[in-house]
Amino acid sequence: MSVKMDETFRCVTCTAPVNIAVIKYWGKRNEKLILPTNPSLSVTLGQDELRAKTSVAFSSKYTEDRMWLNGKEESVSSQRIQNVLKEVRRRVRKRGAPGGGNEVDTSRHIHIVSENNFPTAAGLASSAAGYACLVYSLCKLYGVQGEISDIARQGSGSACRSIYGGYVLWKTGDLMDGTDSFAEQVAPESHWPEMRSLICVVSDQKKHVGSTEGMQTTVLTSELMQHRVDGVVSQRTDDMIEAIMARDFPTFAKITMQESNQLHAVCLDTYPPIFYMTDTSRLIVRLVHAINDVLGDIKVAYTFDAGPNACLYLLKEDVPRVMGLLRHFFPPAQRNGEPFVTGLPVDELPVTESDLAGISLPQSEGAIKYVIHTKVGPGPQVVTDPSESLIDADGSPKQ
Ligand code: DP6
Repeated sequence: MSVKMDETFRCVTCTAPVNIAVIKYWGKRNEKLILPTNPSLSVTLGQDELRAKTSVAFSSKYTEDRMWLNGKEESVSSQRIQNVLKEVRRRVRKRGAPGGGNEVDTSRHIHIVSENNFPTAAGLASSAAGYACLVYSLCKLYGVQGEISDIARQGSGSACRSIYGGYVLWKTGDLMDGTDSFAEQVAPESHWPEMRSLICVVSDQKKHVGSTEGMQTTVLTSELMQHRVDGVVSQRTDDMIEAIMARDFPTFAKITMQESNQLHAVCLDTYPPIFYMTDTSRLIVRLVHAINDVLGDIKVAYTFDAGPNACLYLLKEDVPRVMGLLRHFFPPAQRNGEPFVTGLPVDELPVTESDLAGISLPQSEGAIKYVIHTKVGPGPQVVTDPSESLIDADGSPKQ
C-alpha cells in the first residue's frame, strides 16, 4: 500500500442506468456474497430519463469516509457499502494502478456524493443504479480494470446488471466464492432500436417488504420457488436470449409477462405471503392483455418488481396507441401543470370506438400518477465536464 502519487485530491463523476429484469432474480444461495439461486436477464434503460449520478473523491485532507445520498448524509458503515469499498480497495492493492508503478494509496479516505434524476418517492428500483454507479466510479477513481460487475453484485444483486447497456444476463455461477457469478451483455442497446418502455408510476406507495428480506423468506418457505429454480428459469432464460437475438417481440413479451407473474406467484406462496402488486397493478395487467387481444397479437408486455409500478415493454410503432389507451383507462388526476407523460416525446393517438368496444375495463382516475417513456440505453458513463461534479473542492456536496 505505498504512496507514490503526488496527488492529494482526485475526483471522478459517473452516471449509471436503471435496469428492469425480464427474467427475475429472486432468491440467494449465499446472502453475504449475494449469489443468486437462478440466472436473470434485464434490459438497461435510457439514462436521460433514469440514472444515478455519483462523484467520488479521495484527498489526504479527508479524515474519514463520508457519503451523501440525494442531499442527505448517510453512514458508510452499512455492510454492503463496506463490502464494495473493501473489494475495490483489495483489487487496487492486488493489481496496482495501470500505467506502471504508480500505486494508489487506498488508505486515503473518500467522499461519495450521489443523486438520482428521478424522484425516490416514485418507488423505482434505485439501488441497482446507485450501486452500479458507486462501483463504476470507484473503479475509475482507482484505475481498477477488468470485470467489475461482480463487485456491484456485492452491493445489490440487480446492480451487477446495470454495469452493462442493452440486454444483460447475470449468470448464477457454480463456485462457492462467487467469482463466476457476474453479468454479461447479451446484446447492445443498438441491437433492437425499436424497443421502448413505458414506466407507469402507480400512486399507491404503501410500505412493502424490501426485496432482500422478501426473497429470503421466499427461499425459506415457498415450495413453488423450488419448482421455479429446478424446472422453469433456465429454460426461460435460454428462450429469452433466443427471442432477443431474433428480435421476436411476441416471444420476448410472453416470457416477460410469465416471469413477472411467477415472481408474484412465489411471493404469494411465501409464508407469510408478500403482496407487491395492488389493484391498480392488476388493472394494468388486465388492460395489457385486453390491448393484445384487440390488436390480435402480443404487442405489449408488463413486468412488476418489488412494488406496484408497472414497466411496460413495447415497440416504438405501438407507443402512440398504447399511450392513448393508458390515458383513457387511467385519466390523470390534477398534476399541478406537471405532464402525465415524461421522457421521450409521444405522438399519442386518441382511442377509437373499436378499441373501446373490445376492452371492458373501468376507468380509474389518478391511479397512475405519471408515465416515463424511455428506451434501451448504454451502461455507465464517465462525466468529463468538471462543472458537473457533485463534490466541491473542499469535499462537500455542491449546493
Ligand atoms: C424484484 O437486487 O434489490 O427487482 O440483492 O438483496 O439487494 P438484493 O436485491 P435486489 O432485488 C431485485 C429483485 C427484483 C427482480 C430483479 O431485478 O431481477
